[in-house]
Amino acid sequence: MSNHRGKIAGLFICILLLASGFISLYTRRLRAVAFIKELRVPRESTPATTNDLDDKLNFGARPHVQTQTSWNAPIMWELMFDNNLYDRKHKEANTTVALTVFAVGRYLEAYLKTFLTSAEEHFMLGLPVTYFVFTDLPEQVPEITLAPQRNIIIVKVEKHTRWQDISMMRMKTISEVIDTVLQHKFTYVFCFDVDQIFKGRFGSEALGESVALLHAHYYKLPKYRFTYDRNPESKAYMTEGDYYYHAAIFGGTCEKVKALADYCYVNIMEDKLKNVEALWHDESHLNKYFWLNKPTKLLSPEYCWDEYISNTEDILVKRLVWAPKDYEKLRTR
Ligand SMILES: *[C@@H]1O[C@H](CO)[C@@H](O)[C@H](O)[C@H]1NC(C)=O
Repeated sequence: MSNHRGKIAGLFICILLLASGFISLYTRRLRAVAFIKELRVPRESTPATTNDLDDKLNFGARPHVQTQTSWNAPIMWELMFDNNLYDRKHKEANTTVALTVFAVGRYLEAYLKTFLTSAEEHFMLGLPVTYFVFTDLPEQVPEITLAPQRNIIIVKVEKHTRWQDISMMRMKTISEVIDTVLQHKFTYVFCFDVDQIFKGRFGSEALGESVALLHAHYYKLPKYRFTYDRNPESKAYMTEGDYYYHAAIFGGTCEKVKALADYCYVNIMEDKLKNVEALWHDESHLNKYFWLNKPTKLLSPEYCWDEYISNTEDILVKRLVWAPKDYEKLRTR
């Protein structure tokens, strides 16, 4: 019995040492090599004044899709909301938004410019937005013209060779940047994959305390088809869930996004110690997190559509689409 306890204590100390090593490494890296083009401190913001906006949603506007979860979180579909009302209330509340995006290695050249220029056309127009671009190649970030009240900050990060590690370390970096920079300055933070293109309004109706995205490939499928992690050895293991969420977009208040990022990172590290990797990496852990901590708002696949899906009857507006996979560019050289 005491031997068993000793083992647990040993494992715990191991985890602590490993985690604190990574934290100090990353903190130093973020502080030392972050080079900041411009950072204006926005006005005080007050999320509380916009919280009741979702009560005015028209849940009957889309009879063929689910518009509300069993725990009464709205699922955002076109026709349910009044764009102007959301925008006006968020402007009055001085809402500010941080968008994080990782463009590491060849992803920068392949996707970043299109992502940013299309975001300037469709993402949270009229609100102050700061893009945080995390990259190993800061000097290659393209110059793009930003509208007033919009900024870009480039943060240099280490390049990990396996894309699985890139996507997992992303959680650690997001948590760090919320702690060191975003907290107190931004009402909301939204985290995006870079290989996507904005095509239509992606506006303030998407903002909420804790926001998850329904995966375009799974929103219509029965639960038994969901690709949760099914390995009991992994911390991401789950036998049942609500939906299959897509890690390409998640967001919320700084506090909630930090909680999600910390949860995913710690569990990924625990898996690593056991030499286990969840089926879909950070996405598996994100699904577990949202099963245990229900999101307050869900985005329909209108907010992240795969144009290879032929059945588009539910998709009235494509707000963001998956960029075509440019494997040539990503794999060669
Ligand atoms: C928003 O900012 C303006 C100008 O700084 C200020 O007068 C106003 O009180 C702020 N509104 C809220 C809801 O904090």
